[in-house]
Amino acid sequence: MLLEGKRAIVTGGSRGIGRGIATELARQGADVVINYFAGADRGGDSAADEVVAEVEALGRRAIAVNGDIADPGVSRDLVQHAVEAFGGVDILASNAGICPFHSFLDMPTELLQQVVGTNLNGAFFAVQAAANCMKDQGKGGAIVATSSISALVGGAMQTHYTPTKAGVHSLMQSVAIALGPYGIRCNSVMPGAIATDINKDDWSDPDKRAYLNNRIPLGRFGQPEDVAKVVAFLASDMAGYVTGASLLVDGGLFVNLQ
Ligand SMILES: NC(=O)c1ccc[n+]([C@@H]2O[C@H](COP(=O)([O-])OP(=O)(O)OC[C@H]3O[C@@H](n4cnc5c(N)ncnc54)[C@H](OP(=O)(O)O)[C@@H]3O)[C@@H](O)[C@H]2O)c1
Repeated sequence: MLLEGKRAIVTGGSRGIGRGIATELARQGADVVINYFAGADRGGDSAADEVVAEVEALGRRAIAVNGDIADPGVSRDLVQHAVEAFGGVDILASNAGICPFHSFLDMPTELLQQVVGTNLNGAFFAVQAAANCMKDQGKGGAIVATSSISALVGGAMQTHYTPTKAGVHSLMQSVAIALGPYGIRCNSVMPGAIATDINKDDWSDPDKRAYLNNRIPLGRFGQPEDVAKVVAFLASDMAGYVTGASLLVDGGLFVNLQ
């Protein structure tokens, strides 16, 4: 096990990549606070309780915390839960994100603000809250953020999204410098096409799936666990001299884009 006895927070941990990260960190020995945001429009429903059960089945402790990561108070709350339940925070996986496709020329301001608030501001608040706790603990820590291949390429229907993912990439470079003196390592992963709810239209449509599979040198969509294993590695002492790095987890898609 790479993370025996560590205490982790995963934002956006109820579904998709975050769910994969939460269970992989637990498989590697960590207790996990699982954040999600089942807003009023969804009647408070969430898969977070299922993830708690999966983590507990792996013999680790887990708690689920509902809250909009765009609200800085939620990040402080997540840290508080980790301190009260587990005694501290060693790992943050800042992963919560949304990508509601929309054309550029008529992009509603509210949608832009929601995407930036969740994906970029939310990452900033989570990193800031976790890092302050890690600094006070005096034992270092590891932060891994979920950026995207979209940090490196454009998308006509993602003009609100791609800048947030470039921003997360840049944020992790800057905080790597700010937090290095405290022994806090900061890295990001850049997933390619991973089959989750966020891009269900792509992988559930046979034509779109075949098109993308043809573009991916490894010949398939990624699965959440493909990303989660890399996050666990970056969070572990195996990556003890890695900070400020961004790692593509895309089956080779980026080098085949032309
Ligand atoms: N899938 C891909 O191909 C891909 C590629 C590159 C990067 N990414 C990035 O990977 C991350 C996870 O994406 P995914 O594909 O796993 O998406 P997903 O399956 O839609 O899961 C999104 C997760 O984020 C949570 N969430 C959404 N808004 C939130 C908010 N305001 N506050 C707190 N939690 C919130 C959701 O919670 P609820 O369950 O409560 O809604 C859910 O747990 C995102 O940052 C995304 O940009 C994904």
